[in-house]
Amino acid sequence: MLDLSHYPLDRLASRVGTPFYLHDAGIMRGTVSRFAELVREHGLFGRYAVKANAARPVLELMRAEGLGVDAGSGNEVLRARRAGFPGGSDPAVIMLTTDVFRDNALDVVSRERVLPNVGSPRMIRELRDAGYRGPVGVRINPGFGHGVVEACDTGGPSSKHGIWLDALDGVRRAAADAGLPVAVLHAHVGTGPTLPEFDTNVRKLVDLFVELLPDFPEVGTVNLGGGIPHPYRPQERAYDLASYRPIWDEAVARLSQRAARPIRVEVEPGRYLVAGAGILVTRVKEVKETRTNEKGRGHTFVMVDAGFCDLLRPALYGSYHEIEVVSAGAGGGAASGGAQRPSVSCVVAGPLCESGDVFTRSETELLDPRMMPRPEAGDLLVVQDAGAYGAVMSSNYLSMGRAAEVWWEDGHGRIISRRETLEDLVARECDVAL
Ligand code: LLP
Repeated sequence: MLDLSHYPLDRLASRVGTPFYLHDAGIMRGTVSRFAELVREHGLFGRYAVKANAARPVLELMRAEGLGVDAGSGNEVLRARRAGFPGGSDPAVIMLTTDVFRDNALDVVSRERVLPNVGSPRMIRELRDAGYRGPVGVRINPGFGHGVVEACDTGGPSSKHGIWLDALDGVRRAAADAGLPVAVLHAHVGTGPTLPEFDTNVRKLVDLFVELLPDFPEVGTVNLGGGIPHPYRPQERAYDLASYRPIWDEAVARLSQRAARPIRVEVEPGRYLVAGAGILVTRVKEVKETRTNEKGRGHTFVMVDAGFCDLLRPALYGSYHEIEVVSAGAGGGAASGGAQRPSVSCVVAGPLCESGDVFTRSETELLDPRMMPRPEAGDLLVVQDAGAYGAVMSSNYLSMGRAAEVWWEDGHGRIISRRETLEDLVARECDVAL
């Protein structure tokens, strides 16, 4: 969670327009360099899951800290290449993990010679048919893997990801037929589980890989996925990497011993590295009330100019993000404002013509009002911990145009992604006969 007194939010808002994202480079670098250093110290290789935040300076920071990349699409691979990550697969700095090869993905794998991490035997045949001749990774569905909500489970019977354990024979046969060595075994334990759940599941994953290794004589790398939790609620504890370290050591020792050769162990978090370094800044446009009647309870609606087109997590998963009020005119070095105002129960809602365009939601409730110093029109509201799965999941629903992104470094802001314009929105329109 960022300390808002460090940023001249009012000034930035009038320069950039609201809503906008702000990413604090110093905070991000602090988290990333600690993680990268520990990973190196334990002889592991760390990848950054680009899907969490694909902004160019974020990728450059990850590269500068010595991390590799897990990309989720052909275009994420190309964005990583533009940020300076090298291609090649020996060993692979960029891995492409996908459930389906779409658009340019197959072409990019062959051309950039990055490591494809596949989720079905058919994908191996697709690679061979596309002329790919290199190692492959195999993503396994370990049968467990719980996330913040069911939609964030990335293992278990309800998860579409990877290859179910019973089907691994088919993958081995497909790889042998295609002449593509299986060099990496991979699984991801679920994104954002509870702290004890995370440790337990990673340990179970290591057990599973220890069991599987003898069936894969060409495997030199085992990837334990990402999933390190981030504390979104003020009372939540941050994950202490100290509890991950013995798991890493154990994984390296047990896997290498079982395989009777050195096994490189990889981890690939996304959220943990970037979530806490980003905020979404939005302007309060109106505060209005509904009254309790026979159909239900009335609410105070704080109408802001950001919606689920900007930050989808609350609408999609009922995710919690802390929201702070910054009073209008708080000036340079704006502090959280409104602290002297009486606290009221508020529903924070956006501009979209959708009743679900609400930031104060829960996993079960459409409206989950929160106590906050009564906001007033003109105030800024800051949605905290929006650095992961924020801007990357934004859309231009209602032709809103995606929000600008600001990179805050050494006390200065830079626009790294400008607000999307009407011209951007219509740039793809065409009239092509078929
Ligand atoms: N590796 C693979 C193959 C993944 O699929 C993911 C996330 C990660 C790594 C990184 O997981 P992390 O460390 O960030 O938990 N949109 C959701 C999160 C979906 C993540 C899907 N895969 C959210 O907003 O919470």
